[in-house]
Amino acid sequence: MDLPRVKTGVEGYDQMLNGGYLPNSVNLISGCSGTGKTLFSISFVYEGAKNLGEKCLYLTLEEGADQIIQNCKSVGIDLESIDKDLLMILDIAAVRKLYTSREELGRPDSPVDIQTLINLLKMNNFGIKRIVVDSLMPLSLRYKELSEFRAELFRLRMTLKEMQATSVLTTEIPLSSNDVSRFGIEDFLADSVTVLKTVEEKGNMLRIHKQRGSDHIREPIRYEITGKGLKVSYDEFRSPI
Ligand SMILES: Nc1ncnc2c1ncn2[C@@H]1O[C@H](COP(=O)(O)OP(=O)(O)OP(=O)(O)O)[C@@H](O)[C@H]1O
Ligand SMILES: [Mg+2]
Repeated sequence: MDLPRVKTGVEGYDQMLNGGYLPNSVNLISGCSGTGKTLFSISFVYEGAKNLGEKCLYLTLEEGADQIIQNCKSVGIDLESIDKDLLMILDIAAVRKLYTSREELGRPDSPVDIQTLINLLKMNNFGIKRIVVDSLMPLSLRYKELSEFRAELFRLRMTLKEMQATSVLTTEIPLSSNDVSRFGIEDFLADSVTVLKTVEEKGNMLRIHKQRGSDHIREPIRYEITGKGLKVSYDEFRSPI
């Protein structure tokens, strides 16, 4: 039997996913800098909060909340029009800025670690249906060993699953890389992985690398970021599943 799907709000992308994300799944958006990871993940909470009346939590670790609200305006997403009870943007970036150097961030008492994030999630667990963590990169600075970071990421995954929410995590990959994640571990913890890339002469291309438990379009498809939001050119694709 087909499970109901969680619509992402990104035009064309849900069709590529055969309807949307699976409920209670953890989904990774990987991409080079400036490919639209933040706008993708914002569209996901906008769809939930504004269009479906679901409670959403957005944890930002890189950009400030004001900056995100401003950037979203330029692509036609008005976050200020959403009921404050439905969309909460938690600005962990503000905490991060207090710690100026990489060494300070890596200190054992640095607040930006996965346990802090898990505590924040549990404290705010009042029927939240959608969660975004944008991005995972600052969290990695706290760990000297990749194995430690991996173990903590799995604890984050477990917490997200326990909360019965559908989540989106973002991660950055280098420009010329063919990898689907930055640390080579985030993709294993995710139920779905989508890669955003800027390809010479083709423009922005989106590829769904995997989606556990469901079929999906595997070919890269063009997407656009315009003043009217995000759009995946699925209708240009000739042989849908
Ligand atoms: N009004 C607009 N019209 C067209 N494209 C836009 C507009 N505003 C932003 N963009 C595009 O969106 C990109 C930024 O999107 P976003 O901040 O979501 O990327 P990101 O992948 O999260 O970046 P970062 O890695 O820096 O966090 C810009 O590089 C630009 O190409
Ligand atoms: Mg971003």
